Amino acid sequence: MKKIGFIGYGSMGNMLIQGFLFSGAVNPEKVVVSTRTISKLTPLKKSYPPIEITQKNKDLALKCSKIFLFVNTGEVKTVLDDIKSNLDENNHIIYIAAGLSMKNIESQFKGKVSKVIPSLTSEVKEGVSLVCHNQQVGQKDAGFVESLFNKIGNVKVINEKDLEVVSDLTSCAPAFIALIFQEFARAGYDNSDLTRKEAEDLVVKTLLGTSKLLFEMSPEDLMSRVATRGGITEEGLKVLRNKLPSLFQELFQVTLQKHDHIKELLDEEYSS
Ligand SMILES: NC(=O)c1ccc[n+]([C@@H]2O[C@H](COP(=O)([O-])OP(=O)(O)OC[C@H]3O[C@@H](n4cnc5c(N)ncnc54)[C@H](OP(=O)(O)O)[C@@H]3O)[C@@H](O)[C@H]2O)c1
Repeated sequence: MKKIGFIGYGSMGNMLIQGFLFSGAVNPEKVVVSTRTISKLTPLKKSYPPIEITQKNKDLALKCSKIFLFVNTGEVKTVLDDIKSNLDENNHIIYIAAGLSMKNIESQFKGKVSKVIPSLTSEVKEGVSLVCHNQQVGQKDAGFVESLFNKIGNVKVINEKDLEVVSDLTSCAPAFIALIFQEFARAGYDNSDLTRKEAEDLVVKTLLGTSKLLFEMSPEDLMSRVATRGGITEEGLKVLRNKLPSLFQELFQVTLQKHDHIKELLDEEYSS
């Protein structure tokens, strides 16, 4: 019986593999993990002794039908070149490299391919992983990938053409939101006797409460509940309504330009 292989144990690999094992989504006895610096796997092996660890991606590929690539985008081709000779039509490659198209992967491997854009929010079992599959991936294999990521948050299956825009909303968003709230807190402590820590603590708790409320009501309802006509909040909302739309348009413009640039470079690399 073939196992499930994970290649790459960095920031994302660490979070995802630990999340899958901790949630019971995968049986440690069926897991093989490989990474470049194998010493990084010592704590994982200690926590889950039945997992198999190796530094040889090729050995992993021989033993596994489903192979997750959690290496940096620039390393995916090296890994595929390394394992290619041990892959056949029964293998399913699942990768998370932003900017790398399924067409790029299909130029190296003709079988089942799924692309997942995870979010750091999975570390707390929240947020959304974006998923798309190629034509070869049937319902059962698609279901396996989706149910795995469902254990560490939510899953949204999406068309690859929308992946870049939507990943701004889910995968880049934790960083964007963190900066927005850091600046919001800064304005608070710049204009008061609060320390930075006190202001950030207040904002984070308010953010959590606001998130919960937004599951209960629409943004419009929430704003109208807080902002009384002619009151203080209304003045603040006017500033934000004036400045935010152009700011976020610019944000999408530059991130999408960067996506295009990375895609061009990767298309070149994968066509040579
Ligand atoms: N960060 C995010 O929020 C996020 C969100 C969505 C998608 N992604 C995607 O996730 C991917 C990984 O990002 P990351 O932040 O986890 O990167 P990372 O921290 O640099 O981790 C990459 C891991 O892969 C290992 N590795 C590199 N080359 C290898 C090889 N040939 N064989 C085996 N292992 C190898 C590295 O080993 P060493 O330990 O020796 O360096 C490292 O452990 C990227 O493609 C990124 O686009 C990230």
